[in-house]
Amino acid sequence: MKAITVEPKKPGSLRYEDIPEPDVREGSVLVEAIAAAVCGTDVEIAEGKYGWAPPGKTRLVLGHESLGRVIDPGPNSSFKKGDLVSGLVRRPDPVPCPNCAVGESDMCRNGRYTERGIKEIHGYMSERWRIEPEYAIKVDPSLGILGVLLEPTTVIIKALEQVQAVGQRAYWEPKTVLVTGAGPIGLLAAGVASLARIEVHVLDRAETGPKPELVRDLGAMYHSGSVLDLGFEPDVVVECTGAGSVIADSIQKVAAGGVVCLTGVGAGGIAPRATADIAAAAVLKNNVVVGSVNANKRHWYKAGLRLAQMDRKWLSRLITRHEKPENFSQALKRKPGDIKIVIQFSEI
Ligand code: BGC
Repeated sequence: MKAITVEPKKPGSLRYEDIPEPDVREGSVLVEAIAAAVCGTDVEIAEGKYGWAPPGKTRLVLGHESLGRVIDPGPNSSFKKGDLVSGLVRRPDPVPCPNCAVGESDMCRNGRYTERGIKEIHGYMSERWRIEPEYAIKVDPSLGILGVLLEPTTVIIKALEQVQAVGQRAYWEPKTVLVTGAGPIGLLAAGVASLARIEVHVLDRAETGPKPELVRDLGAMYHSGSVLDLGFEPDVVVECTGAGSVIADSIQKVAAGGVVCLTGVGAGGIAPRATADIAAAAVLKNNVVVGSVNANKRHWYKAGLRLAQMDRKWLSRLITRHEKPENFSQALKRKPGDIKIVIQFSEI
């Protein structure tokens, strides 16, 4: 079968090549790939900046945002042939740490977790893949191809759960949420937040293109420019840019008692403000800055419910490009106006 593979840490090593059929040891459920979506992490892996091949191997099958159709449910699963499924990304560390031991490997304490398509386990960008029944999630068939948006939605569900958990330390009735960055994660965050009774604002650099309208169509407010220039102090900031200046501004701008949740992974840059100044603002206003990565099965379950509640036409506008797997190099290149690129392996 064919798969999109890469030699991690080796730029330019991406290939669409023949590999053996998935090994039954990878899971008793056999799935035919329908689609895999591309995210910033995939681009980083393709650029040789991130990623780990399985032990003893040099290449990794890419892909962690999956949608597939069960071909063979295997002997001990509740799946049926034809079910639409998506696969969880992370697997517990082998020790396991207390969090992995209780099914919360998204909170792994020793860093020895593995992740499909990212860290030491093959991903989902292959014509067929296998999965353990407990790590596959049934996708609402009425979502169709939009089910490929499940994984990024899980990341948001976890982030919002973290915000809620932190908020509960005191009286907590947030009125406004600011999402920084209108990429797929930011827009899905705005979409999920719009399902709740809260005023949603999104800030992004783009002044044109599809983003402003997508935000307004949610009934949310769109801003470009600096966080510091906003005419209000958000109770919650969901930070989806990973950009140093946006992070520092968000920590300064968040309302007293507010929570800034960081979901973007950036690097480098120069400190726009001294650390002690940022810390002083947090101390004097009881603010919390919380990082959030990945998602566990509870978040996947909730994400499925939320995604199914969202407007299908709006969700489909997030997918701005469908590519064939043989066009992998185009799929992994961002072009102006791109939001989510989906690699389509078979018809839905
Ligand atoms: C994925 C997460 C993963 C993280 C770090 C993200 O792109 O959505 O599941 O934990 O990368 O590897």
